Amino acid sequence: MADYRPETCAYCLTDTWCEIRANGKPQCRACKVERFFETVLYAPLGFSLLAWQRKVLRDLYGTVHAETGLRQYRIGFVSMAKKHGKSFLIGGLPIYHLLMENEIRPEAYGAAAAKDQAGIVFKAAAQFVKSNPVLSARIKLLESTKRMIRRDGGGSYAVLSADGDVQDGIEPSLAVLDELHRWKTAKADTLYDVITKGVISRHEPLVVEVTTAGEQYESPLWFREHEHARQILDGSLKSERFYAAIWSADVKRLGSGLLEEQGSARGGEPFARRPRWVPEGRSLGRGEGEGDCQSSGAPEVLPVQLECPGHLRRAARH
Ligand SMILES: Nc1ncnc2c1ncn2[C@@H]1O[C@H](COP(=O)(O)OP(=O)(O)OP(=O)(O)O)[C@@H](O)[C@H]1O
Ligand SMILES: [Mg+2]
Ligand SMILES: [Zn+2]
Repeated sequence: MADYRPETCAYCLTDTWCEIRANGKPQCRACKVERFFETVLYAPLGFSLLAWQRKVLRDLYGTVHAETGLRQYRIGFVSMAKKHGKSFLIGGLPIYHLLMENEIRPEAYGAAAAKDQAGIVFKAAAQFVKSNPVLSARIKLLESTKRMIRRDGGGSYAVLSADGDVQDGIEPSLAVLDELHRWKTAKADTLYDVITKGVISRHEPLVVEVTTAGEQYESPLWFREHEHARQILDGSLKSERFYAAIWSADVKRLGSGLLEEQGSARGGEPFARRPRWVPEGRSLGRGEGEGDCQSSGAPEVLPVQLECPGHLRRAARH
């Protein structure tokens, strides 16, 4: 279990809560998650984090309370155009939470409106485990039931879908909700409630919702969450616990692949100038202690905060 204390991160030079690595270097929580994804999950596949993926990870995990070092965000709403690696990114989160977070007996869930959608995130997670022997040694894949368990019995990952049996009584330390705009039915609302109530007993829970533009107005749940996120981004609401990231290309409903209009990247090239999925961003070999790994060069995205919605306030009580 990581033990965090105020230090200067050896990787991004930020003064914040850090753990001391075995090599003696302090590492902040943003660098920890970024490095895990880069080196343990993505590298064996020959991938590198896309700028937006890096930014979301660093923001979600690296924003901590000054006094406690606990993660500030308990829910994340991330809206990004289709085919930009949303499901793939959140497929890595259960593995991160099973092995790297400070939760006793972690329970991670990948939830979606339909079984096949929940299976997409599981598939990404399984791909990460299969392609890294270090992960396979610690995590057992149960593909037929779409589950993963830590081999020491210390945690599990399972899929949930609104078209299946909604399990009450779960206590997620992490829940990733894919394609929130497809959560339209009463059963989807129930699943959402089960998840957000289930996290209450956890020390540092996290619910990550990802979505894209589409038939969103058919989903009241999507609409509610999107409105919270939008109001956070325009500054009319504040929350310490709700992370909002909406990429503008999403709003323009570009739909398929390249973000032709994402020229507003801060310090980074628009994706349109890159061949699709050519790894972008920095490699982690950029020199320990050098560089500013907080400037992601991500496209326009403005995490701000809002008045906590009721269900989150409940979820946050612990
Ligand atoms: N950083 C990356 N580098 C290379 N390939 C990536 C990266 N991230 C995702 N991909 C690949 O991009 C493809 C699309 O990813 P994914 O299905 O996660 O997108 P999505 O945004 O969830 O799409 P949709 O909106 O259709 O659900 C996948 O084949 C995935 O392996
Ligand atoms: Mg997807
Ligand atoms: Zn750092």
